[in-house]
Amino acid sequence: MRAAKIIGLGKYLPSRRLTNKDLEKIVDTSDEWITTRTGIKERRIAKEGESASMLAYKASQEALKRAGLTPDELDLIIVATITPDMNFPSTACFLQKHLKAVNASCFDLSAACAGFVYAAVTAWQYIASGLYDNILIVGSEVISSITDFKDRSTCVLFGDGAGAAVLTYSKTPGFISSDFGSDGFLSDILSVPGGGSQQPISQKVLDDRSHYIKMKGNELFRIAVRLMIQTAEISLKKAGLKTEDVSLFIPHQANKRIIDAVSKRLGIDSQKIFLNVDQYGNMSSASTAVALCEAWEKGMIKKDDIIVLDAFGGGLVWGSCVIKWT
Ligand code: ACO
Repeated sequence: MRAAKIIGLGKYLPSRRLTNKDLEKIVDTSDEWITTRTGIKERRIAKEGESASMLAYKASQEALKRAGLTPDELDLIIVATITPDMNFPSTACFLQKHLKAVNASCFDLSAACAGFVYAAVTAWQYIASGLYDNILIVGSEVISSITDFKDRSTCVLFGDGAGAAVLTYSKTPGFISSDFGSDGFLSDILSVPGGGSQQPISQKVLDDRSHYIKMKGNELFRIAVRLMIQTAEISLKKAGLKTEDVSLFIPHQANKRIIDAVSKRLGIDSQKIFLNVDQYGNMSSASTAVALCEAWEKGMIKKDDIIVLDAFGGGLVWGSCVIKWT
């Protein structure tokens, strides 16, 4: 089995900012409520025409440049998204077209907020098996396209963005361990019930607003804390590491209170936790991707550092991985 490492990271955030003060004018909420309950101050909203593949394109160009690879050197493109450009073709195929990545195979991966972690581990396994050498993975979301701006319990939480990483084979790991889990019995806690094959788009779906995110926030909060702790502990144990060995913990950026509770229970020092939920809100699969990229840009990741990615989302799905930075 070959080792795999990340050789380039990129991100793209739409320029339009939607602040808590802006939301006060749209729904019955307050900056104070949003800040204390979630830690979010603002989020980015894509312009018309800025689809998931366009956001992914900009993030990918930056990641490829930093990796020193040209698009034609890519063997595989995986886009993690729950807001694809279209039901099909895949957003990864659209991204291939934008990049002119003529030699790549492409597919999308649906694991909600855990999508980027799932894509990273999937890419690692393709490299480990020897099937592919150079893989582009992207978490890209236009969550505003499935957000109900009449529902104050959800619209304050989400934002748009994309993060990308290029992986290749390596002499030394790289990726050390991972853990995935799912519980489809809890699918109704967080979903977009309408607009799929179960309830195809219809006037009723539009009237019920069921083509937007529906969430049982309270239940989700408790489960997210429990499972994010569990998966991080399993990945660290598989790697033969302890929480004190972690150099940087990069959790899914859904809610600062979830991150605080998880980090406290894991016993990770607050200086070792990456946070940007205040600036972008929850960008689903793009959250851990953008966070990893920003941590690297800020010089928070050095050679031989132990990085833990930990995410949780609708499905329910959760997952984590441990990376030794090479
Ligand atoms: N502004 C003001 N008041 C609000 C708002 C708002 N935006 N939203 C809800 N409220 C009200 C409620 O109506 C309720 O009022 P009531 O007591 O009069 O009934 C009160 O605030 C408390 O509501 P709760 O839902 O109990 O608030 P809670 O402290 O649980 O916070 C929150 C809600 C922020 C959604 C929290 O539960 C949470 O973060 N849950 C996890 C969400 C999450 O992580 N989702 C994404 C998962 S990842 C993915 O796959 C996309």
